[in-house]
Amino acid sequence: MVSYKDILASNALINDATAPRVSVFVGGTSGIGKFTIKALVTTGATMKVYLVGRKSSEERMHAFIQELHAINSKAEVIWTEGEISLLAETQRVCEIIKSKESRIDLLFLTAGYAPFGPRQETAEGLEITQSLEYYSRMLFILHLLPLLGEAEAPRVVSVLGGGLERVTIDLEDLDLKKPGNFGVIKARTQFIPMHTTTMEKLANDNPNVTFIHSWPGSVNTGNVKRGNANGILRWFIWLTLEPLIFLFSTSDEVSGQRHLFESTSAAFGGHGILWNGKPGINSLEKPANGLFLVNYKCDCTPNAEVVRLLREKAQEKVWDHMQEVLRPYL
Ligand SMILES: NC(=O)c1ccc[n+]([C@@H]2O[C@H](COP(=O)([O-])OP(=O)(O)OC[C@H]3O[C@@H](n4cnc5c(N)ncnc54)[C@H](OP(=O)(O)O)[C@@H]3O)[C@@H](O)[C@H]2O)c1
Repeated sequence: MVSYKDILASNALINDATAPRVSVFVGGTSGIGKFTIKALVTTGATMKVYLVGRKSSEERMHAFIQELHAINSKAEVIWTEGEISLLAETQRVCEIIKSKESRIDLLFLTAGYAPFGPRQETAEGLEITQSLEYYSRMLFILHLLPLLGEAEAPRVVSVLGGGLERVTIDLEDLDLKKPGNFGVIKARTQFIPMHTTTMEKLANDNPNVTFIHSWPGSVNTGNVKRGNANGILRWFIWLTLEPLIFLFSTSDEVSGQRHLFESTSAAFGGHGILWNGKPGINSLEKPANGLFLVNYKCDCTPNAEVVRLLREKAQEKVWDHMQEVLRPYL
């Protein structure tokens, strides 16, 4: 575990010279993304932050941006509206950012929730949480990679379930479209390994970019209530899950600081804020740049046996399928 004291000491070294100059936060309108933006802006460094979110959150975000400006007048936070569960919208938002910037230092992805309710599809025919937690996030990465390539220590942090991969990925029905093949557990055991294996290939193909798939542990953001659960599941969430989350969650502040550390420290791959502790181990079990599966204690959890099996048996199939789905939006 990286101690909170060490996290704060590392984050205290973020200044005009070391801060990510341009960041893009997708999902920064609530929860972990929002806590991390606040921690980043509170460093007092000069920076530009694109805060991407849907129309319904715009008014709330104007107040948040004012709050951030009061904390740090050198931070320019730019509201960028987009319905990012739709890939066409994701593409449009990426085009806007690409037209304004020549480099991006940090791409931070958190949109999504656990789908406790029945399968719900977007107008583009994708299950909504799979679109938010996988396809839209990968599309952001693919569009913005050329700009990330222009930064000195570029980084992509995606928050979902790094280290929790299982080999039970359903390769015959990657989008869980077959009747009866969708549910909250199935979605988690499908999207997490898809995420890791795709990010690992992206990391191999872009060795200068640091990729982190973070598992945040339990953070009391209200995320479990988003999934439209009904019947007994709704009662289960209310009576069991919510009290447990309330009791055992990482605080908002700690979660924000830990994710800021994951976004900036050289502990992961050697680029970024100087780190004198033990170097992090990537998904290939090496202390080198690549994909890092990082848990809520900021430990690297390579989940080596499962990730190796995914690499051998699933990576190519998942990649090809993703390319097919994303092609019209690239
Ligand atoms: N919190 C935890 O304990 C925990 C644990 C494990 C994994 N995770 C995963 O980690 C990620 C971040 O979690 P979090 O707790 O920070 O989430 P959160 O607070 O619930 O925020 C999720 C983000 O997703 C956006 N979003 C939700 N539904 C959307 C939709 N239909 N269309 C567009 N945007 C939508 C929200 O936008 P609005 O602000 O506009 O609603 C918000 O920006 C999620 O994928 C979550 O499943 C969380």
